[in-house]
Amino acid sequence: MILVTGGAGYIGSHVCIALLDAGLDVVAVDNLSNSNKASLDRVQSICGRSLVFRLADIRDEETICEILRAFGVTAVIHLAGLKAVGDSNVRPMTYYENNVLGTMRLVSAMKRANVKTLVFSSSATVYGIPRYLPLDEKHPLDPTNPYGRTKLVIEEMLKDLCRSNDGWRICNLRYFNPVGAHESGLVGEDPLGVPSNLLPFVAQVAIGRREKLRIWGNDYDTPDGTGIRDFIHVIDLASGHLSALRQLRQPGLLTVNLGTGNGYSVLDVVRTFEAASGRSIPYEIGERRAGDVAVCYADPTFAKDALGWTSTRSLQQMCEDHWRWQLQNPNGYHGSKLPTVRER
Ligand code: NAD
Ligand code: WQD
Repeated sequence: MILVTGGAGYIGSHVCIALLDAGLDVVAVDNLSNSNKASLDRVQSICGRSLVFRLADIRDEETICEILRAFGVTAVIHLAGLKAVGDSNVRPMTYYENNVLGTMRLVSAMKRANVKTLVFSSSATVYGIPRYLPLDEKHPLDPTNPYGRTKLVIEEMLKDLCRSNDGWRICNLRYFNPVGAHESGLVGEDPLGVPSNLLPFVAQVAIGRREKLRIWGNDYDTPDGTGIRDFIHVIDLASGHLSALRQLRQPGLLTVNLGTGNGYSVLDVVRTFEAASGRSIPYEIGERRAGDVAVCYADPTFAKDALGWTSTRSLQQMCEDHWRWQLQNPNGYHGSKLPTVRER
């Protein structure tokens, strides 16, 4: 049985699909602070299998310990966390409390229940401003915002845990820019309020929920002047977690980029999304967004060497799948009619 923290969230729901499809049993824990339980109802209908959902907070060590013991959990995939960069500048302590303290309590519960295999959701944001490209795992770590620093603190904490020679098997996965949705269009990203990330904003413009996209700067030193990122399909990302789990056979620490190695500009995304949706995406050019870098993409070599994992899905497929989800669920999970997932 695998425990997925943050299992009802965007990436978590896709990780649950990957695990169920691989024949593994799943208990998903989420406090639903940024998600909807309907995502897990849909995960079950996609996979034709059930999972267990527990409404719980990772900071509640007793409850997490009980869950680990009650379900005979053997490994944890830890995605629960707050992730909004701008918000983390405004409420830094909330981020440290939720992400860092939450992970400390989770690890404590795991130690008590003698579960010592952990895959952690880190982020390419730990690299900060790229000093060279592509970004490999040896690149210096210097995050530029509190959110990124919580990820770095957690990575360092987990590194120390592995150094303690207490049998821990840990993998930090540094995600680049996850986008897209399950090909069924049943699960996808459902941001609260105004999306700050590019793809959800573009999709909401295409569906008519927002009038136009504002492109944050077209004067970068890139071929078309707009920022370049390494967008990765969320299904490829999810399969990386399965590869990581399978690789954690010996005690030790692995830290691995999950990216495609390809960079696409904001305008590439706009054009590809227009082609995928058949809708036009009106946009205007705004000032650069504070904290943005011109170009960021991964060196995915180590992921292939260490995990035997590579991404396979194109930007076109990312946009097509993201669009299918948006078209079938113009208001996200709001109004979901599917049956309620079992709660124990
Ligand atoms: P998400 O907000 O959709 O999922 C996170 C889930 O964790 C949500 O369902 C939320 O309700 C839950 N949660 C938050 N705090 C919790 C707590 N204390 N106890 C229990 N549940 C809690 O976000 P996501 O995009 O699916 O991201 C998942 C993880 O991946 C996060 O840790 C995020 O920092 C990391 N990450 C995301 C991205 C990205 O661009 N989406 C990039 C890099 C890393
Ligand atoms: C991508 C590009 C924007 C919105 C963020 C976090 C990072 C990670 C992934 C968690 C940039 C441009 C965007 C818009 C735009 N999350 N853009 N108009 O900034 O690379 O990374 O999400 O770990 O930590 O910082 O992703 O999707 O916000 O932006 O022009 O309305 O799209 O300027 O060039 P980013 P993004």
